[in-house]
Amino acid sequence: MPPADELCREYYENRVAAEQEGSDGEQVEGGAAQNISRHRPYEEKKCNDCHDKTREGGLVRPQRELCFTCHAGFAKGKYVHGPVAVGDCLACHLPHRATFPSLLKADKKEICATCHRENRLIPGFHTIAADKQLVCVDCHDPHAGNAQYFLK
Ligand code: HEC
Ligand code: HEC
Ligand code: HEC
Ligand code: HEC
Ligand code: HEC
Repeated sequence: MPPADELCREYYENRVAAEQEGSDGEQVEGGAAQNISRHRPYEEKKCNDCHDKTREGGLVRPQRELCFTCHAGFAKGKYVHGPVAVGDCLACHLPHRATFPSLLKADKKEICATCHRENRLIPGFHTIAADKQLVCVDCHDPHAGNAQYFLK
């Protein structure tokens, strides 16, 4: 087995090459041009800031705690969004690169609907908001806030 640093570099180079060929369909489709957002520690090849093969799960911290080591403020506020409260950042984000801004797994116009399909308590209001082309995060913070429903 080559040392971890070498494995890391090899993986990274293969991944980048695959992305440039457009053959890496797993996280990023359409090749490098489509990588709209890149996580800085990944780009800087600081793989070991997150990965540790000697630990269970292969990460330096359990996955639900990992993101908070560098992004401490995201679950703060009187009201915390369900998936954020349990550290499930990867419900919405990818850890390395993404085709959408802010490392999102889906367009911010669509991401809320991956879980929220229930009828709104105030459907009329939300219908008007949709008609005006407003997206959920124009009014709601996706993470947490001091106003109910994390309203901005
Ligand atoms: C910010 C933290 C972070 C950094 C930095 C990071 N990773 Fe990851 N990586 C993760 C997390 C979290 C997962 C698990 C994703 C999942 O299970 O959905 C993962 C998954 C993986 C996987 C398995 C799944 C896949 O995508 O093939 C590999 C291999 C990997 N990372 C390699 C790397 C390499 C190489 C680097 C450095 C160039 C790196 N990672 C940098 C957090 C990180
Ligand atoms: C080792 C530290 C570190 C860890 C761990 C880490 N991040 Fe980051 N993250 C950063 C840095 C540095 C930036 C860039 C900040 C900036 O540009 O102001 C960043 C930026 C981001 C951004 C904004 C990207 C953009 O394009 O605007 C998102 C989203 C993000 N991180 C999500 C996550 C998630 C999800 C996890 C857990 C899988 C995570 N981070 C774990 C260091 C980290
Ligand atoms: C329910 C989906 C969802 C979850 C879960 C989620 N995020 Fe986000 N996050 C978003 C959306 C949507 C944006 C973009 C907001 C915008 O563009 O207005 C974003 C933006 C970000 C950004 C960049 C912009 C900023 O506010 O600094 C960071 C960093 C970030 N998230 C970190 C995290 C971390 C850390 C977690 C876990 C504690 C997390 N997110 C969990 C949806 C989510
Ligand atoms: C991964 C699944 C998931 C995604 C994606 C998601 N949510 Fe949630 N959301 C939940 C869960 C779980 C709860 C807590 C249970 C509940 O109150 O329905 C919740 C609760 C909420 C609440 C509070 C509801 C209440 O009655 O207190 C609001 C507001 C909300 N989400 C808005 C959003 C917005 C805006 C987005 C997109 C940025 C989003 N959610 C994306 C899972 C998700
Ligand atoms: C124009 C601003 C605006 C937009 C856009 C918006 N909301 Fe809301 N949302 C609100 C307000 C204001 C409330 C609080 C209503 C109240 O106090 O009864 C609310 C309440 C909620 C609630 C909790 C009450 C309920 O009806 O279940 C959820 C969940 C929610 N919104 C999700 C979403 C999602 C998902 C989207 C995107 C599809 C979205 N909102 C878009 C302003 C908005």
